[in-house]
Amino acid sequence: MKIIIDTDPGQDDAAAIMLALGSPEIDLLGITTVAGNVPLELTARNARIICEMSGRTDVKVFAGADGPLQGTQVTAEHVHGRTGLDGPELFEPSFPLQDGHAVDFIIDTLMEEASGTVTLCPIGPLTNIALALQKQPEIAGRIQQIVLMGGGYFAQGNVTPSAEFNIYADPDAAAIVFAAGSPIVMLPLDVTHKVLTTQPRIERIRAVGNRAALAMVKMLEFYRRYDVEKYGTDGGPLHDPTTIAWLLQPQLFQGRMCNVEIETTSPLTRGATVVDWWGVTDRAKNVHVIGDADADGFFELLTERLANLA
Ligand code: RIB
Ligand code: CA
Repeated sequence: MKIIIDTDPGQDDAAAIMLALGSPEIDLLGITTVAGNVPLELTARNARIICEMSGRTDVKVFAGADGPLQGTQVTAEHVHGRTGLDGPELFEPSFPLQDGHAVDFIIDTLMEEASGTVTLCPIGPLTNIALALQKQPEIAGRIQQIVLMGGGYFAQGNVTPSAEFNIYADPDAAAIVFAAGSPIVMLPLDVTHKVLTTQPRIERIRAVGNRAALAMVKMLEFYRRYDVEKYGTDGGPLHDPTTIAWLLQPQLFQGRMCNVEIETTSPLTRGATVVDWWGVTDRAKNVHVIGDADADGFFELLTERLANLA
């Protein structure tokens, strides 16, 4: 599977990138970075640090949008730490960013690869994807599928009562992506809150014992504290790698086709994903919404694939 990961690392983004790099089924054509959890300069640095921790300084990493299409920028240092990757000892990456903008890499790749053969995996705000669709609308029909982490319906929101961070950070971009007509698989808070980084799961990752796994353990131990305090749960929801796990083993997940639209104007609910889960409208069912996961199977997959890294 040929994929592009669009990301705002983030410790959970790191887990998604490492899962992809540890999985031979996946040909990671490139990583495009976007401002999100922390500003772009840090997400573009963190993406390369994660690749280097994984022994993969050959991965193409691009910098993309440094803020939302419109409105004020929102970040999440309170969750991810000032660096966005707090936990392990960090370092200056030894390899540079690729020349060129992330949006142009997305467009060029989709135009050069055979139509319908490249999957996009956005796991941060959707600004880069929206800009690519605006700049070259033809790509909408060439994208194999967009497998994104974002939104929530019964689970509501995590950054406002009704909005999840990736959507809230750029609701206008999300509205463009959800209306583009490309096949979309959405992994919202409803499923990510079911895959919690409990201590036994962290210990099994620690037992893998390589550089990448030990760095991941330090990331998860830092990252879990916020959600444990906030939700009183036994661990933090490991949001972003659910996208890669769905690509690798979709049988671990359950969901249904629904209409999903994005609230962009209401001050109270801006960034909400309005999911017609019960089919009460005749609006087009544009999104495969995932609602459930086999959490043990998910962590077994993640742990097994981390063992393939440096
Ligand atoms: O709401 C969770 C999402 O916001 C995850 O992608 C996390 O990395 C942050 O970007
Ligand atoms: Ca993210």
